[in-house]
Amino acid sequence: MKGIAACGNCHTPKNSNAIEVEGMAYAGSFVIESPNFKAYAPNITMDIETGIGDWTDEEITRSIRDGIRPDGTSIGPPMPSSVYALMSGRDVKAIVSYLRTVEPVKNVVPKTEFKITLPSSYGPPVVTVPEVSKDDPIAYGRYLTYTLGHCFDCHTPLEDGKYNFDLIGESGRVFDNIFGLGFTTVSLNITPHKLFGLGECSDGEIKLAMVEGISRNGRSLVRAMAFPNYQKVTEEDINAIVAYLRSMKPFPAD
Ligand code: HEC
Ligand code: HEC
Repeated sequence: MKGIAACGNCHTPKNSNAIEVEGMAYAGSFVIESPNFKAYAPNITMDIETGIGDWTDEEITRSIRDGIRPDGTSIGPPMPSSVYALMSGRDVKAIVSYLRTVEPVKNVVPKTEFKITLPSSYGPPVVTVPEVSKDDPIAYGRYLTYTLGHCFDCHTPLEDGKYNFDLIGESGRVFDNIFGLGFTTVSLNITPHKLFGLGECSDGEIKLAMVEGISRNGRSLVRAMAFPNYQKVTEEDINAIVAYLRSMKPFPAD
């Protein structure tokens, strides 16, 4: 979804300028490489033959939150299934309803090649997940950042192919061959560390980076950062994300 969930950041193919290919929204084929996999984001349009058009709402919900396809197979990384497990019932329903409105596109996507064994499940089946109240901006900001936005999927270093969540928000996650364009980039530290993170940034500077992709020194961020997706996120939600980022533990610890 365009918006904080940014499903299209992986599921929509990009051109050589890392701009989404027109007419191909959610049609897949986008390649994401890591030492553990060469992943192809599948076609999640409603095309019956090559997409997920014949999956029921419950099956799509299960694939998003439990990481399990209707045929019982596990969906592998980088689909962020373990953080989506915390997605509220209301939000997952909204995402499924939105996917139903997307133009079906016929596009066959190659199978992901994994060098790791996928778990048979990411945990017990997700049943009910209540909404996080907006009355607590930090808890709500955490939900938007950690769960819906899967920001730490990119902003946490990988060690031996696994996230080291003790270093959540730290920089150093390397993206090889991002967008299949043959270059490598690294995510930045978004903890409130004064020197290495966002500690000295104003709220306005953090928002500018998130929404417009302009770093505090005026540099344009590489489009590996999902900012083009965040332009329609409401001011209230961006403020909650900033409040949560400011509440995090700074890394590295002093
Ligand atoms: C970081 C990249 C990434 C993001 C973000 C992402 N996905 Fe995925 N998704 C993938 C990849 C890669 C796979 C296939 C993994 C595999 O081959 O096992 C996948 C698989 C799926 C599948 C299973 C489709 C099939 O045919 O097997 C569905 C459904 C899906 N994603 C929906 C979503 C939705 C909805 C969102 C947003 C809420 C989303 N994804 C966000 C990368 C991503
Ligand atoms: C697909 C991976 C990805 C996702 C998802 C992602 N980011 Fe980023 N982000 C990056 C990369 C890579 C950079 C650094 C780009 C560069 O240096 O040009 C970055 C840069 C940033 C910056 C700029 C930091 C600075 O010092 O200028 C901020 C702030 C940021 N991200 C916040 C977020 C937040 C908040 C979210 C979730 C709502 C998020 N990012 C989601 C990959 C990602």
